[in-house]
Amino acid sequence: MKSLKLLFTLFFALALLAACNSKDDASAPVDDQKKEPATTETEVDKELEAAKAKFEPLGDIPIPEDNEMTDEKLALGQMLYFDERLSGDNTLSCASCHAPAAGYGDNLAKFVGFQGFNGPRNSPTIINAGYYKENFWDGRAGSLEEQAVGPITAAGEMNQDLDELVTELSAVPGYVDEFNKVFNDKITADNIAKAIAAFERTIVVKDTAFDKYLAGDDDAISADAKEGMKLFVGKASCISCHAGPLLSDHNYYNLGMEGDDGRFAVTNQEVDKGAFRTAGLRGIAHTAPYMHDGSLATLEDVVNYYNAGGGAHPNKSALIKPLGLTDEEVGYLVAFLESMSGEPPMYEKPELPQ
Ligand code: HEC
Ligand code: HEC
Repeated sequence: MKSLKLLFTLFFALALLAACNSKDDASAPVDDQKKEPATTETEVDKELEAAKAKFEPLGDIPIPEDNEMTDEKLALGQMLYFDERLSGDNTLSCASCHAPAAGYGDNLAKFVGFQGFNGPRNSPTIINAGYYKENFWDGRAGSLEEQAVGPITAAGEMNQDLDELVTELSAVPGYVDEFNKVFNDKITADNIAKAIAAFERTIVVKDTAFDKYLAGDDDAISADAKEGMKLFVGKASCISCHAGPLLSDHNYYNLGMEGDDGRFAVTNQEVDKGAFRTAGLRGIAHTAPYMHDGSLATLEDVVNYYNAGGGAHPNKSALIKPLGLTDEEVGYLVAFLESMSGEPPMYEKPELPQ
């Protein structure tokens, strides 16, 4: 009822406004002045439309042919993901450093690993990790399957010998049944990796306010976020690297940060010293702090870092230079990043096999 009344009031107000306008029409000079802002408004919209056309929806996550996603496999992957028995002293699971409540990261600048080991890098989020062509900050793993056993065996992370893990899990009748059901096979390192990787492919953020806007819902994002979108493709040129469906070009750049050789460890090429993989940006508001070293605490810090022209590393990309953004423009970019944050699916620790 109330909203109906409001609608009527609005209708009358509009009718009144229209009447006033038509009265203005009689006096030509006033009318000319009034038309000016209207022209700028359509020009602004054109800029926004042009910006919008540079983005595309994320689409479905690619699934490797030899690791289909059955419900039973996903359930097993979820158990393994949350099971501390995967670490050498049964204290750490994947979820310790990639926790749902922490945006599938750990909210720490750098990870704390096996028995308090101080990690050299930030735990990246698992959100949309399956869309990257290569995994890790430096891209040293080719797939989630390849990646999954890395942290289990890494001395500083879970410090678990794979043969020992297979023996340990094979002594759990519930797991033997599960692997048999899912893979028609016994417990192997390969099958462990496949189940975890399949589960990780469900941790996706793609239906964000930004995506609704791309799909045609003009009101899905705020006016500030729309200004941010224009800056993202224009003055701030974030899209030089954060491009394509994932908002990552799958390439590696040096943003001027020092203290880690990054991609160099993979390629041994001088140009790759201090270069890291362009991060995808959906879900980004959930995954602070930012960058491979967790050195930037907030999205505002990130945009300010770019605005200042990045850091001082001699190998810094030519694309990273001072942007001359005002504080207001920095705020618009942050609003745009927030509009693509969405809500990741929230998994809980399931009952574990005994
Ligand atoms: C002790 C903390 C810790 C634990 C436990 C851990 N990780 Fe990680 N994870 C990290 C860190 C740190 C990185 C980044 C390392 C790098 O890039 O050099 C990472 C990277 C990743 C990535 C790459 C993401 C990307 O953007 O490419 C995936 C996927 C991942 N971990 C999954 C797992 C799985 C699955 C497990 C459990 C088997 C696990 N992690 C256990 C800390 C951890
Ligand atoms: C030259 C390529 C390039 C440009 C231009 C660029 N970025 Fe990045 N961006 C990267 C790379 C590479 C990383 C990962 C760096 C690292 O981890 O050290 C990154 C990381 C980020 C992160 C943090 C991701 C995370 O998970 O920690 C955000 C947010 C971000 N960029 C936003 C922006 C915005 C906003 C702009 C424009 C103002 C921009 N980027 C311009 C390449 C670029």
